Amino acid sequence: MTETVAFPQDRTCPYHPPTGYAPMRETRPLARVTLYDGRRVWAVTGHAAARTLLVDPRLSSDRENAEFPMVNERFARSRRRRIALIGEDDPQHNAQRRLLIPSFSVKRMNALRPRIQETVDRLIDRMVEKGAPAELVTDFALPVPSMVICALLGVPYEDHDFFEEQSRRLLRGPRAEDTEAARDALDAYFAGLIDRKRAEPGDGVLDDLIARHEETGTPDKDELLSLATILLVAGHETTANMISLGVFTLLGHPERLAELRADPDLTPSAVEELLRYLSIAEGLSRVATEDIELAGETIRAGDGVVFSTSIINRDGEAYDASEELDWHRPTRHHVAFGFGVHQCLGQNLARAELDIALRTLFARLPELRLARPAEEIPFKPGDTLQGMLNLPVTW
Ligand code: HEM
Repeated sequence: MTETVAFPQDRTCPYHPPTGYAPMRETRPLARVTLYDGRRVWAVTGHAAARTLLVDPRLSSDRENAEFPMVNERFARSRRRRIALIGEDDPQHNAQRRLLIPSFSVKRMNALRPRIQETVDRLIDRMVEKGAPAELVTDFALPVPSMVICALLGVPYEDHDFFEEQSRRLLRGPRAEDTEAARDALDAYFAGLIDRKRAEPGDGVLDDLIARHEETGTPDKDELLSLATILLVAGHETTANMISLGVFTLLGHPERLAELRADPDLTPSAVEELLRYLSIAEGLSRVATEDIELAGETIRAGDGVVFSTSIINRDGEAYDASEELDWHRPTRHHVAFGFGVHQCLGQNLARAELDIALRTLFARLPELRLARPAEEIPFKPGDTLQGMLNLPVTW
């Protein structure tokens, strides 16, 4: 057992785990870390252990459990707020998930590809018309998934300034009350939208959920608001970060990028490897509801457990040359989308968006490069999804 380290920490380089995690990396598969409030919890650092624990029903996702580990004060303050899917345990979790699985199947996502391609093409056309330089986060990385999730859910994209701002506050604050206030604002927004949709239904996933609610009472009113929020927020912030950080990382690995440009059909493998390498969703959290024995340690009932995906996904026992960005080695089984019952519902959508966005961007702008030195470009703090705050590029 090593000394405990603070968790989470800011990354030093946007695509590597924080250097301050070094002692944790030496303590596989379980280390001890200290959260912002001084609480000591387990950090899972080994790949095999992560996949064992993420399917263990003795680990709960229920934020209302007073012992659920919170990674910052903003999230702690809104712990009483229901979070559909991601914050539910079975059987409620399973019931909510079953409502949505058909809407996010591989087949449905493949059918969306032409629409994603059209969105990507239009945004690149606009960048080219405006001329270099561009700010890739606002001009491309954020609007691609934002437009696509709006179309899928049936949310008007004209409202994007509002909901992108609320997502930003919800996930990144900076004030302690921001997460709670952003949830209030999104609930009020969706309550209004749902009323309008009742009068004039559309054909989005949200419309389907409203119809189910009216017919069967399931999901109930609170669940409906919470499902709408999680789908909208998780549906755009995550992929936007992967696009911005993915482009930044590829530009920092010119040999890899040259290979991808020469053979764009490598893009799906590159996306999978980037998901592993970048691990943008860093600290998945759970609380133990019973004692669990693992690797000679006992996780006691009531103990907090966080999964450091960036370290788990670079476990040398799971991946050869785990510190290298290399899409020729098998990268399957990474935990960038989590694992087990909560494994990302939108992963097929994210893969399709990333494949189309990266493939098209590098084909259309073969001279794409950073417009400022890499060290000067700001990236996101460690207690939220990882990604670039902005990304000035030229071509
Ligand atoms: C590259 C982009 C994405 C990454 C890295 C990502 C990552 C994750 C991770 C790690 C989890 C598991 C959380 C946990 O176990 O506590 C998760 C769950 C989830 N994700 Fe994603 N996600 C991405 C894109 C999306 C998209 C596009 C959607 C679209 C709606 C989405 C919707 C969800 C939902 C609803 C859950 C909760 C699932 C459940 O609890 O059953 N995600 N995601």
